[in-house]
Amino acid sequence: MSSANIAIPAAHRVGHFSYAIRNIVSEAKRVEASGRRVRYMNIGNPPAFGFQPPPHLVEAVIQALRNGENGYCPSVGLLAAREAVAEEYTGRGWAISPDRVLITTGTSEAIELTLTALVDAGREVLVPLPIYPLYTAVLAKLEATPVYYRTDPDSGWLPDLDQLERMITPKTRALVVIDPNNPTGASYPTAVRRALIACAERHGLPILVDEVYGDLGYGGPVSPLGSLAPEAAIISLSSLSKGFVAPGWRTGWLAVANTPRLDEVVGAIKKLADGRLCSPTMTQFAIPVALRGDRTSQQTLRDAMRERAAITTSMLQAIPGVTCVAPQAAFYAMPKVALPPGKSDQDYVLALLRATGILVVYGSGFGMSPTEGYMRIVFLAAPNELREIYGLVGQFTADYLR
Ligand SMILES: Cc1ncc(COP(=O)(O)O)c(C=O)c1O
Repeated sequence: MSSANIAIPAAHRVGHFSYAIRNIVSEAKRVEASGRRVRYMNIGNPPAFGFQPPPHLVEAVIQALRNGENGYCPSVGLLAAREAVAEEYTGRGWAISPDRVLITTGTSEAIELTLTALVDAGREVLVPLPIYPLYTAVLAKLEATPVYYRTDPDSGWLPDLDQLERMITPKTRALVVIDPNNPTGASYPTAVRRALIACAERHGLPILVDEVYGDLGYGGPVSPLGSLAPEAAIISLSSLSKGFVAPGWRTGWLAVANTPRLDEVVGAIKKLADGRLCSPTMTQFAIPVALRGDRTSQQTLRDAMRERAAITTSMLQAIPGVTCVAPQAAFYAMPKVALPPGKSDQDYVLALLRATGILVVYGSGFGMSPTEGYMRIVFLAAPNELREIYGLVGQFTADYLR
């Protein structure tokens, strides 16, 4: 008997893998095909809105290609790049040596390598709610369990520390902290950051801190979490994607605290990294240039985002039925709509898309309950376009809630 007509099944674990930020684009394409202009406010991709990496970074990559740097490099990355990352952390108060730095294919690969090195199937990892969905997607792949600790919109999206501590069990393997935060735009005060470290240390847990928005605090760069406790078991993850607006280069890093408690984990991460050979070589040449060179473009970017955040907050707050916590960093806001009974956040977001062409992501794509009515907005568009967009959101929402 021939099996030629029987569909080949995909692995079950992929059933738990979802990434709403990109999944909803298929619906947007349908709307676009019907002739309506779509405004993509679903993905934090600054070059799509005219922001570009500083020319000296671009020059470094071009030069690398002209110099024939087309081969593999060491799995851990180019030494010059690792030295620059180590110097950056050290200069910001967290002493790191280059041998504790690994260059990755974006923060995304740093997340995947670190969780894979730390977490066995059936174990638990504490992640903030709302969550940047790659964490839960990777945990699904590892057959491990995300345990959500609440961050509270009433306190500016700060973690609920009491609840967090109550959720730690013998199965817990790590605490994920995303600060500054996507999707909420929060930037945690020092007291909260210290409390997170103290909690993790009390329970012997490593912290994976995602600091990809560390250079985009509206009040200036945010110091690395490790600078508050150099002895703590902290692994920091970051990249050129946001602070240097080069997300398509897929170039990032992870840095591991200089504590012997993490030596085995460093070894495991390096072993995993060997298996994928290396991350792209030519863009690694931009890392030393980015971190040691002129950084005035980052101030320009912070100023631009502060202005957009203010427009976003004031215009959304002015819409009846909508509330929005003011972001403190990055280019995201997480407003809430008081949904009519029986409606979900996805219903609202799809109706908004079909009626106006505005694409945002429903809060349940970040783990929120669908009836709470959250959505995440990426506010990288120009101020005037944002005003126009929020005007349309206001008109649509008035009709929707009538
Ligand atoms: C919190 C967070 N972590 C990681 C990433 C992925 O960044 P990268 O482009 O460095 O892989 C993003 C991208 O939006 C993010 O928001």
